[in-house]
Amino acid sequence: MKVLLIGGGGREHAIAQAIARSGRNPELYAAMGKKNPGIAGLCKGFRLLKETEPAVVEYAKEVGIEVAVIGPEAPLAASIPDMLWDAGIPVVGPRRLAAQIEFDKAWTRDFMKKHNIAGCPEYRVFRKNEGGSDEYIDKLGDVVIKPAGLTGGKGVKVMGDHFDIIGAKEYAREVLQKDDLVVEERLIGEEFTLQAFVDGKHLAFAPCVQDHKRAYDGDRGPNTGGMGSYNDAGDILPFMMESDLTDAKKIMVDTVRAVKEETGVSYQGVLYGQMILTARGISVIEYNARFGDPEAMNVLPLLETDYLDVCEGIVNGTLDRVDVRFQEQATVCKYAVPAGYPDEPKGGRVVEIGDIGDSLLFYSSVYEKDGKVYTTGSRALAVVGVAGTIADAEKKAEKGLSGLKGELFSRHDIGTDELVNQRIRHMEELRGYSIMNPLF
Ligand code: AMP
Ligand code: GLY
Repeated sequence: MKVLLIGGGGREHAIAQAIARSGRNPELYAAMGKKNPGIAGLCKGFRLLKETEPAVVEYAKEVGIEVAVIGPEAPLAASIPDMLWDAGIPVVGPRRLAAQIEFDKAWTRDFMKKHNIAGCPEYRVFRKNEGGSDEYIDKLGDVVIKPAGLTGGKGVKVMGDHFDIIGAKEYAREVLQKDDLVVEERLIGEEFTLQAFVDGKHLAFAPCVQDHKRAYDGDRGPNTGGMGSYNDAGDILPFMMESDLTDAKKIMVDTVRAVKEETGVSYQGVLYGQMILTARGISVIEYNARFGDPEAMNVLPLLETDYLDVCEGIVNGTLDRVDVRFQEQATVCKYAVPAGYPDEPKGGRVVEIGDIGDSLLFYSSVYEKDGKVYTTGSRALAVVGVAGTIADAEKKAEKGLSGLKGELFSRHDIGTDELVNQRIRHMEELRGYSIMNPLF
């Protein structure tokens, strides 16, 4: 089966590995912006091109692709799935109208409200150049300010972390000069990621993962694309109850149904729910129309089912006939990123890969030239430990990091007992009771 993978980061390396493991004689091709050595090594052929350009479709036609798999959000926003379907090539990745759920935050909040989807916070949309945001910020008090469009995770600012009420008003006005704006209540809780394969009607869920957005240990420093992530052996995280997962799944199922009602388009691809567990239950921070990076690197190595069977289920609307299973193992993923990331990254430096023990290695924003691997300005390499417990997976990930040499840094606290216990205690305080001991 000839498969085209679009995208060239760590998430796509994890997807490429899952495709390469297929028992259906996969012939993998890749369309990526730079030569990711991990992906290139698994491919029969690849082309370096801009992932948002129609040249992707030309390449797919040229090599006779039977199914295309989209990794990042930019090609979704650029209608690449629509163009591929129109060329007769089935795609894992939603058409533009459905993918709006990621790249128009104003549309998405209005959509959630209109379709009565649970977990929508108090919010208001302000259109570009519209006034009135000051009054609304005063009314809510504790706010989050979000530009409506894609900002690579860097446009959202949260009261307390980034500004006080005066700063919030100033930032809101600044955003309104360029974009529509969402002002919403600030939610307090623990965030987690729920990802699902979706065929338009049926959802197959991956285990929950928790990402770490801040650059430095102890959740300090600027926001990043995600410094690392973990999951527990099983579907939920240590600070969750089974009922939290049931609630989050229902939100995702309702969302997929409502996307079809609202847009007329079936959601076919991966749906990512950025959930937050609060004292009042689950809310939705945002949706993404693709796997998370790093979260894909936690769950895809655990996928037992043949990835191409899953892809076939997604594009044919028959995912209910595929038995989608994940190994019950914990994983810890840690990124090594260039010194100075994210504000002043020192890219273009050589990295060397030595003994990483039995951790898994994923190439992300690096490229290969003359047999050497170079960093860019973004997250460079990720290691993943897989084990029966989070603690053991963490040790394996640390062994992996110790084998990477270069001007890099990482968060060493991700997946440690100390940080995981802190998350558990945080939820206990918010709920007012312990999930281990209901009499607490
Ligand atoms: P987003 O780009 O929407 O995922 O937002 C980036 C980060 O901002 C999220 O991962 C959260 O940590 C934070 N955030 C976004 N919306 C809210 C909210 N309503 N309450 C609290 N934090 C939020
Ligand atoms: N890890 C966050 C994201 O992929 O958007």
